[in-house]
Amino acid sequence: MRSIFAKPQRVSASTTDTGQHLIELRDIKKMYKTEAGEFLALRGINLAIDRGEFVGIVGKSGSGKSTLVNMITGIDHPTSGEVYVNDSAIHHLDEDRMAAWRGVSMGVVFQFFQLLPTLTVIENVMLPMDFCSKFTRKERRERAMELLKLMEVDDQAKKLPTMISGGQQQRVAIARALANDPPIIVADEPTGNLDSKTADAVFHLFETLVKQGKTFVMVTHDAELARRMNRVISVTDGQVVSDYVRVPAMGTAGSAPVSQGQPTNA
Ligand SMILES: Nc1ncnc2c1ncn2[C@@H]1O[C@H](COP(=O)(O)OP(=O)(O)O)[C@@H](O)[C@H]1O
Ligand SMILES: [Mg+2]
Repeated sequence: MRSIFAKPQRVSASTTDTGQHLIELRDIKKMYKTEAGEFLALRGINLAIDRGEFVGIVGKSGSGKSTLVNMITGIDHPTSGEVYVNDSAIHHLDEDRMAAWRGVSMGVVFQFFQLLPTLTVIENVMLPMDFCSKFTRKERRERAMELLKLMEVDDQAKKLPTMISGGQQQRVAIARALANDPPIIVADEPTGNLDSKTADAVFHLFETLVKQGKTFVMVTHDAELARRMNRVISVTDGQVVSDYVRVPAMGTAGSAPVSQGQPTNA
């Protein structure tokens, strides 16, 4: 892997250490109020993710995958329950502190890209770097260009997002998520708009980042890709119905369920 990604530092346990997990969701419920009434999209999710895991989240459309990842990224607040990421109580942060925290801690690839329409492609990738002081101005542009090159969309750098295809926008969104070299990356169907060859290449990049120590949470519809992840969490009707960790292929080890989601039927 190129030098544009650093190995995540092993964060030593802070004084406010709440436990050993990098990401922890405790009894998360999310209620949406709609014209048709209240709808419980997440029905008590308990989940713990450790550093260096490559976690897939799978499930049918409408099962609550995006709602779930929005809880991890703090894009949305739970109706009840607790979310801890790197010992920060996400559910207690206000919007400003949340944005500042997310900027350095997490890269997010949104299902529908969320590129800013008035900024060019390269400006979109530079934006997260502009919000934190990790890189100088000159470095930001160079780094954005390198990331675009890595995603093979560097020739689109000066265009507005509306001028490029969905697949290209998705690649730009991935480049932007990697901008601050975050230790955690959360991606909602990041290969959904890519052809299978490109999806494979992007997935390979993700695997490389995980090998370097990053933690990846990825929603996917692609069963083939899910098979290549070391852990797959299956969501149905807002509940975790299975959680499999694949034992590394040494000797006879295969795939083993380590914990079964507990449908509460509540
Ligand atoms: N903002 C919202 N307001 C009301 N209902 C929503 C909202 N977002 C999602 N939902 C509903 O919550 C359920 C889960 O949605 P979502 O998390 O997007 O599922 P998935 O990502 O698995 O397709 C769906 O029934 C969806 O219609
Ligand atoms: Mg979704």
